[in-house]
Amino acid sequence: MTRDTILEWLRERDPERLRSLWARADAVRRRAVGDTVHLRGLVEFSNRCARQCLYCGLRAENSGLQRYRMGREEILRCADTADAAGLGTLVLQSGEDPGMTVEWLADVVRQTKARTGLAVTLSVGERAAADLRAWREAGADRYLLRFETSNAALFRTIHPPCAARPAERFTQLRTLRELGYETGSGVMVGIPGQTIADVADDLEAFRRLDLDMIGVGPFVPHPATPLGAAPAAGRAPAGEQVPNTASMACTVVALARLLCPLTNIPSTTALATLTGADGRGAGLRVGANVLMPNITPEPYRGWYEIYPAKSGAARSAEREIAVMRETVLACSRVPGMGRGDAPNYARRAPTALAAGS
Ligand code: 5AD
Repeated sequence: MTRDTILEWLRERDPERLRSLWARADAVRRRAVGDTVHLRGLVEFSNRCARQCLYCGLRAENSGLQRYRMGREEILRCADTADAAGLGTLVLQSGEDPGMTVEWLADVVRQTKARTGLAVTLSVGERAAADLRAWREAGADRYLLRFETSNAALFRTIHPPCAARPAERFTQLRTLRELGYETGSGVMVGIPGQTIADVADDLEAFRRLDLDMIGVGPFVPHPATPLGAAPAAGRAPAGEQVPNTASMACTVVALARLLCPLTNIPSTTALATLTGADGRGAGLRVGANVLMPNITPEPYRGWYEIYPAKSGAARSAEREIAVMRETVLACSRVPGMGRGDAPNYARRAPTALAAGS
């Protein structure tokens, strides 16, 4: 698919034509990765964060948030829950928690791998290569780090750099690959100031980076953040600003599937938050093949407020898993039971996969 075609689809507003694109992506999804929908147990283990991202409710300056970091035993109980429910993968996600040491997380990964057969995915932000190596050696299988937008100036604006650490997410993505991680990234759709050309760049970056996992969700304004408090500020010129709608997010998911057929693509919480009743089904019908039931225990799950009214925040872990399975069946698909590695990773690193399983 050429850049011009990508741009045309991103500018398309005719619902009939958009439905044809989504159907094409769904057909490619079926051929490339099949009807299985892989399930990942998501544990949001710390909402502490040193960063000041203009879009995110976890930003350090948000004093209206109850902060927490779960203990090792609490996290391991979540691993047991995921294992018992047959989820196959544990995703450990947090803010950029300055108090979380490399040894502590390495220990959590090691213990999880020792007592379960789960694949372990980390999503803990920008970290030094030595930390990434230590966690890989402890047994971590995958790492998620969205680059959020490939427009470097926009990224610097919405994600102010840390004095101590120059934000270089593309360098970290390369390091992760070299360490043998199954590597995921992604973007937000509809960031104020993000243009149609920027999103075309994002899609081309997905292809160039040869990602194993791609997460795409609409930007959801959070009133306790600078971008949520003044949503109109910083918008790109009319006609160029990407709308933060479910329809646009679906189109970006569909194009990601067409450009990167062998990738694992989740139907994200942000998309479910916008689509309401249809929830995760929307993403599953336009190219996605992964769901991440949130199994973070009470009272923490309500406190991981990246944006308000997060889909599923009020459900228990058990209910969330049941709802996800029902969603998969309602889409005439098959709930996955194993690790669900991305075919793209298996193709790229057959020996790494054998070593990690
Ligand atoms: N709206 C949508 N997605 C958001 N994220 C952070 N804040 C928001 C928001 N306001 C996404 C980012 C991050 C992921 C964990 O959540 O893309 O990488």
